[in-house]
Parts: sequence; structure tokens; C-alpha cells
Amino acid sequence: MVSPELSHSQSSSMVKSKNRTSWSLTDGFLYLCGAFLALLLVWCFWSFFIPGSDFEPEVTGSSKLKDSQSCADSGMGVDLGYDPKATTFYDDPEMSYSIEKPVKGWDEKRKEWLKHHPSFAAGASERIVLVTGSQLKPCKNPIGDHLLLRFFKNKVDYCRIHGYDIFYNNLLLHPKMHTYWAKLPVVKAAMLAHPEAEWIWWVDSDAAFTDMEFKLPLERYKNHDLVVHGWPRMIYQDKSWTSLNAGVFLIRNCQWSMDLINVWANMGPMSPEYEKWGQIQKSTFKDKLFPESDDQAALIYLLYKHRDKYYDHIYLEGEFYFEGYWVEIVGGYDNITERYLEIERGVPKLRRRHAEKVSEQYAAFREEYLKEAGNGRGSWRRPFITHFTGCQPCSGDHNQIYDGKSCWGGMIKALNFADNQVLRKYGFVHPDLRNSASVSEAPFDYPAEEGPW
Ligand SMILES: *[C@@H]1O[C@H](CO)[C@@H](O)[C@H](O)[C@H]1NC(C)=O
Repeated sequence: MVSPELSHSQSSSMVKSKNRTSWSLTDGFLYLCGAFLALLLVWCFWSFFIPGSDFEPEVTGSSKLKDSQSCADSGMGVDLGYDPKATTFYDDPEMSYSIEKPVKGWDEKRKEWLKHHPSFAAGASERIVLVTGSQLKPCKNPIGDHLLLRFFKNKVDYCRIHGYDIFYNNLLLHPKMHTYWAKLPVVKAAMLAHPEAEWIWWVDSDAAFTDMEFKLPLERYKNHDLVVHGWPRMIYQDKSWTSLNAGVFLIRNCQWSMDLINVWANMGPMSPEYEKWGQIQKSTFKDKLFPESDDQAALIYLLYKHRDKYYDHIYLEGEFYFEGYWVEIVGGYDNITERYLEIERGVPKLRRRHAEKVSEQYAAFREEYLKEAGNGRGSWRRPFITHFTGCQPCSGDHNQIYDGKSCWGGMIKALNFADNQVLRKYGFVHPDLRNSASVSEAPFDYPAEEGPW
């Protein structure tokens, strides 16, 4: 369907250039390019749909079985083409996506929407939308945009393997909610845009999935509404600014979360008391490095000051790298790669080639061999998420305690380590994690024999 429209707009722009009086050489060249492109598109379109092509029998066969909505079916059992007339919260002119206008009665509203969209109701409790993003403008660091692209590719890969949706935002949805505050308006808007999802999963742009198989243990979080990487002792005894990390969090799509976001955002730059909050945070958490109120300190403050109200709702995940500090992780990728290959050499079913779509089954097979691996620091299990805190890939203004090279080199290693887990399903492998360009075909039954990998 896309091709004819494209070729149409191509030809209408050509008509315009034809009518111009001055017919320069560039115009002529552009015209030829345009005409060639249009022809190419038309050719692509026809060679795909032309009767007698290899695709044809399958297409007719399946459309006979399905009704007229077969095109709208995502293949995941949900109906993407159906929105009944019954009114929902979307039809309420008072409902606002803005962070400044709190949403009330969200649980009922969401439930009502699901009632009208039964195909989404079925898997709703496990559905996750990953949300991430970066700044509006090009990065100051010359390799910043390239790194961000690779970090985003990494998240897309992870989501594709597990069937999650992903939303990338690069706007300030509230003009005052900049830098680390920008995520809160986005998360709120994503909750409203995705009533079909139980969880919104914010993952910072500088965090990479480095275990593409691992899935969040949602069962563990069933009585909680927010999950962050953190440690109670560091909040209540050490009163530390690093007692949790707000760069990655899983938040339930419910009224409690709407209320939390409201309170949380009101410690940020959109609040008239922004400055006061900065002072309070700095005096409460002595190791906080800068005077402005930030989202992480704000969340820790809520847990610290209003334990009764927040603690039971918030799960502080400390058992695995819900997000992990890159400095303690990146040195281990080579050894971890070797351990996993060693396991695969001994277990034919783990090295069996398979479709990417069924990767989760092989992840489950592998668990049996990871019992001794441990988790988190000192473990040889693939770290779930490696977070390049303090590296600032886009601006390049990394924390002075690191040298830039270890940041960028670490990122490349992490991204190639992750990419190797994906590439395997496409038949290839990076033999050297430091070299993004090097790639070899993975031979049949790889890695059964000792090789140069
Ligand atoms: C990797 O494994 C080797 C050999 O077992 C060991 O000597 C080395 O310390 C390990 N490196 C890291 C970073 O763990």
C-alpha cells in the first residue's frame, strides 16, 4: 500500500519542477533520479503482488481462512483495527496528557477501555511498553548520535525478541522539564497512550541490554507498583544519593503511579519550589554532587521521608543488574562470553539454530546451566542492563573521574556483546568485542569445536 502513494508524491513533485521556467542541469538530474525512483518503486510493488509470484498461493490461502480483519491482526492475538464507538477517557475533553494536570480515577478508566477492547484484555497483565529517548538537538560529542543510535538499536532488538512495544521520545513534553526530568512527562503520556499495557518501562538512553534473553521477573513485582534498582540500607542508614538509580524503572500503569508522578514532578523545575527542593535534597543526602533538585534524589527523598506511604509500593530490586554500573561490568564481557560458549559446546540443544521469534525457549533451556553463575557483582551471568552512568554519550561531557576512552570503549564492547546475542540468530558473530566492523559467519553447529572465536 505504501509504494503507490510514494510514487504518486514523487510524480507530483516532478510535475511542479517541470512547470518551472528555468530548467537547470540540477533540475534535469533530479528529474531523472525521481523518475528512476518512481519506476523502481512501481517495479517493486508489482514484483511483490504480481499473480504467479511465489508469495501468491500463501496469501490467498491465508486470507480465505481469515475474515476481513486479517490485515489488522498483529499476529499477537490483538486486534489493531478495532475501536468501538463507546466513549472512553479519550473522549473526555477534560482529560489532559500534560504533566501539569493530574489524572483521576485512572484505574477505572483503564479498565473501562480494556472492557471495550477485549482482544487487548487477555494478555494485559504482562504487557510492557519500553519508553526511552534523548535530546531534540544533534549531539555535541561527534560520535554521540552514532552511540545513541546503537543504544536504541539495542533496545529495539531486546523488545523484538520479547514482543514488547517501544516508544522513543526526543522532545520536551513540558518546556521546564528538561534533562533527567524530561522522562516524567513522557512516562505519564505513555501511560495514557497505552491503556493496554500494565507496565511502562523507562530505560535511559545510555543503558544497554547486555542479556538479551533475560526477562523481568514480573511475578516478583505483583504486589508493587514501581521497581527500581536500589538498596534499603543505603536509603535509611547511609542516606545516600546512590541508594537507588532512577535511570531505569518499571512503573505500573495505574492511579498510584499517576499520583506518584504528580508528587515526584512537583519537586522538579516546573515547581515554584524547585530551588527549595534542591536545598532539602543536598542537606539530606550528603553525597549528592550538585545543588539542583534531581529526579533520583526526589524519589529517594519520598522513600526516606514518607516510608509508610511509599515503601510498600516500591520494589527495590537488588538481586540482579536491573541496571548495573558499567565500571564494574565491562571488564567481564570476554570471560562471560567464554563461559557461555563453553556451556554451548557441551549442550547441543543450546547451540541448535532457531528462529529469532522462539529465542525465549532457548533462554529457558539455558537457565539450567546458569545455576552456579550467580547474579550481579562478581557473577559470570550476562549482566542484564549495563548503564553508562556519568559517561554522557551525547554531550561527551563525561564525569572527570573517567577518561573518555574508557567510556566510549566500554560502550562499544557492551553493544557488541549484546549484538552478538542477536547476530547469532542471523547467522553471524563478532569475533572481537572491541571491533564493531569485524563479523564472521557462524558455522553450522557453532560453537561446537574450538575456533578462533
Ligand atoms: C578472566 O578469566 C581469567 C582466567 O580464568 C582470569 O585470570 C581473569 O582474571 C578474568 N578476568 C576478569 C576481568 O574477570
